[in-house]
Amino acid sequence: MTSNIVIVGIQWGDEGKGKITDLLAKDAAAVVRYQGGANAGHTVVVRGKKIVLHQIPSGMLNDHSLCVIGPAVVVDPQTLVEELESLRDYGIEVTPDRLAISSSTHVVMPYHKRLDALREQSRGKEKIGTTGRGIGPTYEDLFGRTGVRMSDFCNPERLLATLQKVLVERNHLIQLLGGEPCDPNELAANMVDLGKKLAPYIRDVGTLVHEKLASGQKVLFESAQGTLLDILHGTYPFVTSSLTTAPAAFPMLGIGIPDNRRVLGVVKAYTTRVGAGPFPTEDVGDFGKRLRDAGGEYGATTGRPRRCGYLDLPALRYAIRVNGVTGLAVTKIDVLSGLGDLKVCQSYKLGNGQVVSTLLPEYLESGDLEPIYETWKGWDEETVGVRSLAELPANARKFLELMSSALGVPIDIVSTSPDRDDTILNVDLWG
Ligand code: GDP
Ligand code: IMO
Ligand code: MG
Repeated sequence: MTSNIVIVGIQWGDEGKGKITDLLAKDAAAVVRYQGGANAGHTVVVRGKKIVLHQIPSGMLNDHSLCVIGPAVVVDPQTLVEELESLRDYGIEVTPDRLAISSSTHVVMPYHKRLDALREQSRGKEKIGTTGRGIGPTYEDLFGRTGVRMSDFCNPERLLATLQKVLVERNHLIQLLGGEPCDPNELAANMVDLGKKLAPYIRDVGTLVHEKLASGQKVLFESAQGTLLDILHGTYPFVTSSLTTAPAAFPMLGIGIPDNRRVLGVVKAYTTRVGAGPFPTEDVGDFGKRLRDAGGEYGATTGRPRRCGYLDLPALRYAIRVNGVTGLAVTKIDVLSGLGDLKVCQSYKLGNGQVVSTLLPEYLESGDLEPIYETWKGWDEETVGVRSLAELPANARKFLELMSSALGVPIDIVSTSPDRDDTILNVDLWG
């Protein structure tokens, strides 16, 4: 029996983690978001009704699972309250028995967002293309031990005292980069209402999840971003500022590594990336444009067009190793219908002539690397909404078989539309 599943993106984000988390949450007692913040945009569609979640775990649309925001998430209180309101409009009242936020979770303050924007401006051509959600500066404060935690945020005196200390230095930096300083008194006063709204959700989440696992209940861990955006293992410096990989889920929540776990690597049937940085299999021509149109490849958080390209097996082999992936959830196979035969990157030729079948981010630093492609047969039949492997066109099944055998891991799930129900489940993941 599997007691816990980590759902992790194994490309550059937006693989469809939200859809897969929502689907599996049906059987989970708790769904934990363990890193990232409002930079994430996780789309969930249930019988045609769509919602994009940024900070609340994608289990919220199932009416029983406890959704947990762990201490290594960075929470933007304003957008979190807006998210709670949009769930209310959707028909879901988020009570404290459905949502628990760690008292140690760090808070994204307006000056973090200001710094994020100023830093990007100052980078000129070397911009990372961040989401502008204040993620980097908030994690800097977390590791610099100068952050604002939820326990401070929900207590007006402690919040003011913390801001008076940390803003001395932060305001110097803001001014150095050409921005307006923040007034601690004004800022603390502006946050009182938000603190009151969020206080009922603050709990010791490590204990909560530990107790669920200890009593044999099932827990899902939902990552944000993707492996190649990981601060240590991604395409640095074009990365986000957190550990996005699966093994990080447990220490980041504050529990030991549980037994009986699975790691589900979510992967699009092609590749996309938002923001700057290396992307060896990118197609800036007609094929990339057709993928963007067919797949609706525009960011769920910023609306930016996503860069699109071919499936990259060497990059996936690396991500499978880094995460300890036990099975794949392949999404958006429906997007490939009618696109003709499909180029798939099998290996890379490095600048020194060496051919490698597994990518390492360091190979991307020189930019001197050439993808070696193979062509797999395409198919014209529509597959939107298909719910069994047998109904897929033979070439689509072959595509999946080739992918699984090239990567050495089984395909546990295939997704054929944004909707929760349009999914092929090849195994009982909790079985
Ligand atoms: P996440 O950040 O990994 O949760 O992914 P996003 O929600 O940012 O982006 C994935 C997009 O693809 C969303 O618009 C989803 O609704 C959509 N999507 C997910 N699975 C499928 C699928 O199998 N087919 C199609 N056509 N769209 C999908
Ligand atoms: P989900 O969870 C795709 C990218 C940004 C930028 C880089 C750093 O929806 O998959 P940041 O704002 O984090 O400092 O930006 O990371 N990025 C994402 N790209 N999906 C995401 O989240 C992302 N979150 C951040 O575009 O390149
Ligand atoms: Mg997304």
